Amino acid sequence: MGVQPEPQILFSKAEIAAAVKRLAVEIKKDYQGKHPILIGILKGSFVFMADLVRLLDFPLEVEFIQLSSYGRGRITPGKLKVVQGLRSSIKGRDVIVIEDIVDTGHTIAFLMDYLRKKKPASLKLCALTDKPSRRQVPVNIDYLGFTVPDKFIVGYGIDWDEKFRHLPDICFIEVEE
Ligand code: IMP
Ligand code: MG
Repeated sequence: MGVQPEPQILFSKAEIAAAVKRLAVEIKKDYQGKHPILIGILKGSFVFMADLVRLLDFPLEVEFIQLSSYGRGRITPGKLKVVQGLRSSIKGRDVIVIEDIVDTGHTIAFLMDYLRKKKPASLKLCALTDKPSRRQVPVNIDYLGFTVPDKFIVGYGIDWDEKFRHLPDICFIEVEE
């Protein structure tokens, strides 16, 4: 194994907890009595999703979806494909997509299109982080945790080559991409 980059803290676990609490308040206000389905995008959203749902004290369901991107570079998106789909129908349901990071926007634009075709009653996006400096396609984020600089983000579920997902803080690393 080569030398690992050293993660630098961008947002501490206390700042993350405050942001997740704020998002939960916003979501509770909009979905009280609605019984939504929260769809987490694997794998990056798993820590965020776990913290968020425990602050939502109303009936809801949890689903996960996994996408793969073949031949993806940092600038040019690869061809996106759903590799693990939904196990229940979202037709007529209120859906909230939970994503770790919106970067160029290609992934989320693809997924929102894919889900819209399944005719949910409503479809919103909750993203832990947003890197607007790199956006290539417009994305509307309904609930946002943090705006991040143009750095490579890791921790709190987010990886670099499957590493660093377990870090409790949102960090950045210096990497050659
Ligand atoms: P997009 O299609 O460029 O918006 O990229 C979205 C996906 O790329 C995210 O769901 C992440 O999996 C990954 N990604 C983008 N930026 C970063 C980063 O800074 N750290 C880790 N993963 C990232
Ligand atoms: Mg992702």
